[in-house]
Amino acid sequence: MASLKAVFVCLVLAAFSGAITASNLLKKSCINSDCSAVRITISNPPVNLWDVNVISQLNTLLIALKTENNTKVVVVSSDVPGFFGSQIDLNVLGPNPPPGINGTAVLDQYYDNLERILDAEVIFIAEVNGRAWGAGDEHLLRMDMRFAGPDAIFGAPEAAVGLIHVGGMQQLVRLVGPGVAAEYMLSAAQVPAKEAARTGWVNSAYRTAEALREHADSLASRIALFHIEVLRATKASIAEQAPSAQMLARDLVRFDELAAMPFVAKNVARILTLSRDQSKGWELNNNDNIVKALY
Ligand SMILES: *[C@@H]1O[C@H](CO)[C@@H](O)[C@H](O)[C@H]1NC(C)=O
Ligand SMILES: *[C@@H]1O[C@H](CO)[C@@H](O)[C@H](O)[C@H]1NC(C)=O
Repeated sequence: MASLKAVFVCLVLAAFSGAITASNLLKKSCINSDCSAVRITISNPPVNLWDVNVISQLNTLLIALKTENNTKVVVVSSDVPGFFGSQIDLNVLGPNPPPGINGTAVLDQYYDNLERILDAEVIFIAEVNGRAWGAGDEHLLRMDMRFAGPDAIFGAPEAAVGLIHVGGMQQLVRLVGPGVAAEYMLSAAQVPAKEAARTGWVNSAYRTAEALREHADSLASRIALFHIEVLRATKASIAEQAPSAQMLARDLVRFDELAAMPFVAKNVARILTLSRDQSKGWELNNNDNIVKALY
């Protein structure tokens, strides 16, 4: 049964190889028989750091989605145990990015991805069963809906670093309300799955990874039964309540003003050293570790 399913997935992938293609850090598979519901699996072990390669491969994928017409629903998940997506690679934010890396250009592409997720004419479902820190959380907050498994933990480390959760803040405020958003954002909280479901960060939480997967797959398959025009109109109608581009622009100004302050560069440098360059041991409790180590 399992091998038949694998053969089916391979055939379907071959048939639609002209559509969005897989890259090595973002694996693509089909959820339903005509591949109108697809799964993108983030695979950048050990912690799914949101590094330059993830950012550029995601950009390629989102651009391809814009021009092909087969995909209706995209489920985004991870195959890295314990992690959905970590923060943006702090080496890129720092004053001395690695050789050959233009930090400004990487950030431009990062924000382009966030815009593309919001604007895409497909439905995005985040299936989260691991840590979602910073960048990982900003991306899932811009998707159409979110579901959590037992290993999910949500958090924005930014306040402890000296920044704001720029790409996710406005969405989070709409989901959980200003009071709860203030509690989480101002304290760089780490919020487990059950609480995230209770407060609205995610739609619902599941006891097991299997139950989470089953829900995401069946929901995506059911949505993909319907006409693309209906899905697009429904998404556009819901987006009438979305935060405006001007709000993000003002948040970017706030972010850039903070990023220019000397204490932020110092914090970033200290975190890179103390975390042994964002090692797994550190990332498992990223926000709490930053708070303990820096304050
Ligand atoms: C997708 O649909 C648009 C509008 O109907 C069309 O212009 C475009 O060529 C289609 N793209 C592909 C790859 O079929
Ligand atoms: C870095 O990228 C930015 C934005 O794309 C560009 O304006 C700038 O010229 C680049 N800097 C270098 C040194 O290439």
